[in-house]
Amino acid sequence: MRLILEVWRQADAASPGRFERYEVDGVTDEVSMLELLDMLNAQLVAEGREPVAFDHDCREGICGTCGLMVNGRPHGPEDFTPACLQRVRTFSDGDVVTLEPWRAGAFPVVRDLVVDRSALDRIIASGGYISTATNAAPEALTMPVNKHQAEAAMDHAACIGCGACVAACPNGAAQLFTGAKVAHLAELPQGQVERYERVRSMVATMESEFGSCTNYAECVPACPAAIGLDVIAHLNRDFRTAVVVQRRGEVPERTDVPWLARLRGGPWWQSDPDDAGDGTTR
Ligand code: SF4
Ligand code: FES
Repeated sequence: MRLILEVWRQADAASPGRFERYEVDGVTDEVSMLELLDMLNAQLVAEGREPVAFDHDCREGICGTCGLMVNGRPHGPEDFTPACLQRVRTFSDGDVVTLEPWRAGAFPVVRDLVVDRSALDRIIASGGYISTATNAAPEALTMPVNKHQAEAAMDHAACIGCGACVAACPNGAAQLFTGAKVAHLAELPQGQVERYERVRSMVATMESEFGSCTNYAECVPACPAAIGLDVIAHLNRDFRTAVVVQRRGEVPERTDVPWLARLRGGPWWQSDPDDAGDGTTR
């Protein structure tokens, strides 16, 4: 099959970009979006021309590094699939395929199809740390996690940080990403101690860099990890609680997590066994 590619070329963030048209012949159905770019680059290098810059790493849907707009859709024509696992089989001989970088104000173009996604890292960094036991591994039953919560946490942790949700959103919002990160830790005992400080801080960073969610839900089919809108409800719920807690100057009580009192009160979770837990030393 012969495909005609309209590819965004841009030397750096300060330079203006433009589409350039190329033809790639001999493309078979099982070729992925990234392999299509490999074929194009081999051709450009052989002709002594500058290859197209694009991000990639694992090429098996794990790392979240790949990402480009294919005919205006994040990652490509198939839902819930990263660019590295998308095949060209939905195209026909002679089709024109448009390849662009993520289009979002928070993701400036670095070069060609590569964008700077460090705004997502800044949301994560503003979430800070979790308090957890150090030294020897604690006995497993000290901190039981029920099956439903464990599975929900794993589902939310599946987010690979690719940024497709932001690119898909007409508002350029990062609620799906932030919701997945917040909900992941909020399901687990280890996430409880800083739970409300964390959500306040992450939402503040998110809102300073990204647009606001108005429930278009375009992010859901674009997400290769199949993160659902429920994480945005979770994010909003925790943020509302955090704001109320801050206004009242309270520490929230969670009656559904009986181990939380033990976590707060017991000396077992502190890293220093001589620390009495009240600022003094035994
Ligand atoms: S929520 Fe989905 S689309 Fe958004 S960064 Fe995570 S994996 Fe990518
Ligand atoms: S290259 Fe790692 S998810 Fe696509």
